[in-house]
Amino acid sequence: VKRVRIPHLLELKERGEPWPMLTTYDMYTAELFDEAGIPVLLVGDSASNNVFGYDTSLPVTVDELLPLVRAVTRSVKRALVVGDLPFGSYQLSPEQALATAVRFMKEGRCHAVKLEGGKHFAPHVQALTRAGVPVMGHIGFTPQSEHNLGGYRVQGRGDAGDDVVEDAIALQEAGAFAVVMEMVPAEVAKRVTHELRIPTVGIGAGPDCDGQVLVWQDMMGLRRGKSPRFVKRYANVADVMLTAASEFAAEVRGREFPAPEHSFH
Ligand code: KIV
Ligand code: NA
Repeated sequence: VKRVRIPHLLELKERGEPWPMLTTYDMYTAELFDEAGIPVLLVGDSASNNVFGYDTSLPVTVDELLPLVRAVTRSVKRALVVGDLPFGSYQLSPEQALATAVRFMKEGRCHAVKLEGGKHFAPHVQALTRAGVPVMGHIGFTPQSEHNLGGYRVQGRGDAGDDVVEDAIALQEAGAFAVVMEMVPAEVAKRVTHELRIPTVGIGAGPDCDGQVLVWQDMMGLRRGKSPRFVKRYANVADVMLTAASEFAAEVRGREFPAPEHSFH
């Protein structure tokens, strides 16, 4: 099997072929998504509120995230694995960003890292790419800044669309190999996608991005309750698991499980 590498993603952009990206945080999902042909897997800081039980993406730490990154990289044969730098682990300075990214590459063994922020983070991106660490940017709505952005809301409406374009170009010039755009108007995402040489990856950013990313627990319906507008639910994993756990509980209580075929004599 041939590993996905960055030039492959640039070729897809040149050919106008859109590509999928999913989050993943453990062995089985990594194996399955790799087998399904998802070329890029993100160990997102969304593990904070999808694995670790925090209520936002802010609390998760590097020490919590790194074992998940390592589990995913151990489990894939083909996918390019991106490790997401958590809040507070890179914002202080380009030096801090590089120190954290080095841990992700050495201990997590991922193939690239992602960090949030536009033009103000160009120096951080440049420090990493110059040191040999590929960087995926993330602009528009950036969950680590949710308190500053006034909650989950679309970014780049009206005149602010120009800021999104400016941020994307700054990241590209700093050496980023791709840019995630979260919750920006489709028209703005389309403009950015046309202006950039590097691929854009959309989440709530319309159909014209080069790639599309979703959090797997959202798109497979493991997380219950109301989803944001940009999530499409492709399965109902929560229902499958709830039914299985309930049946198991009922069969144990009813002395139906284990049956003779599950026992040794
Ligand atoms: O952490 C995450 O899941 C992300 C994606 C939604 C892009 O950053
Ligand atoms: Na993230």
